[in-house]
Amino acid sequence: MAGAADDTPSVVVVGSINVDDVAEVERIPRPGETVLATASRRNVGGKGANQAVAARIVADDVAFIGRVGTDAHGDFLRAGLRDHGVDAAMLRAVDGHESGAAHITVADGENTIVVVGGANQAWDTLDDSEVARVGAAAVVVCQLEIPPSVVDDTATHTRGRFVLNAAPAGPVSTPTLQRCDPVVVNEHELGALTGHEVGDIASVTTAAASLLAHGARSVVATLGAAGAVWVTGGGSGHTPAPTVQVVDSTGAGDLFVGVLAGRLATGASMAAAVADAVAAASVSVGAVGTIDSYPSREEL
Ligand code: RIB
Repeated sequence: MAGAADDTPSVVVVGSINVDDVAEVERIPRPGETVLATASRRNVGGKGANQAVAARIVADDVAFIGRVGTDAHGDFLRAGLRDHGVDAAMLRAVDGHESGAAHITVADGENTIVVVGGANQAWDTLDDSEVARVGAAAVVVCQLEIPPSVVDDTATHTRGRFVLNAAPAGPVSTPTLQRCDPVVVNEHELGALTGHEVGDIASVTTAAASLLAHGARSVVATLGAAGAVWVTGGGSGHTPAPTVQVVDSTGAGDLFVGVLAGRLATGASMAAAVADAVAAASVSVGAVGTIDSYPSREEL
């Protein structure tokens, strides 16, 4: 497997990284309403960064490729990745742009997130060294918080397994979809990508299978409390989630993607990788925080 015999990372995440400013509130404010936070915190976030931190729970070699500004937030984000054991050598600073930021409110198991893309949107393609790093990885992960041209470029240069988290919901080019193994979506994103009405497990499986018909090599659909459904060319399955009290689901989807990718990189089957990803996400939603709520390798 690429990445195993030499010194290159087994998982490379190409994606977004944000400073998350999180306010805990008693309830999400309505339009025009002001509420007071009961607690607040600042942490490393962004779907890409969260997924890299999550992959590192199960995989030893994880690298992140992305963009920050030349501001102090960029240093904070780089240090945060390194603190979590992620190789941040290819987190580049872009002149004239601010680092990405996310404004998050959390109340009673629900959240709202507004992302200001900043430097995450300030690139078009991978540079030569990034192409080499992507080409050498066993598993490469992207999401849709970076420009579509970067996602397409990454898919083109992946020689191992390409995992796309199609979040936030948005279009995916046909050549990129055809590289996905798997494309990971929640119910909303699955509906947006396929035009299918999704509700019960059977309808989710049908919609996911329709993405295979459009060229995806495999599909994983996350269903929150109902677990996850996976579909490959060889079959399909549903992994239920344990019943847990949801305290804060922020970043749980990213944890799912990162653990899934990390386990696939270590040679796990799709069924086994999905089972571990469901288990990890179930732990995370029971605690406050995004990457702070992720389980350790031992806990998982
Ligand atoms: O999925 C959660 C993430 O979405 C947050 O960390 C925030 O930065 C946004 O990218």
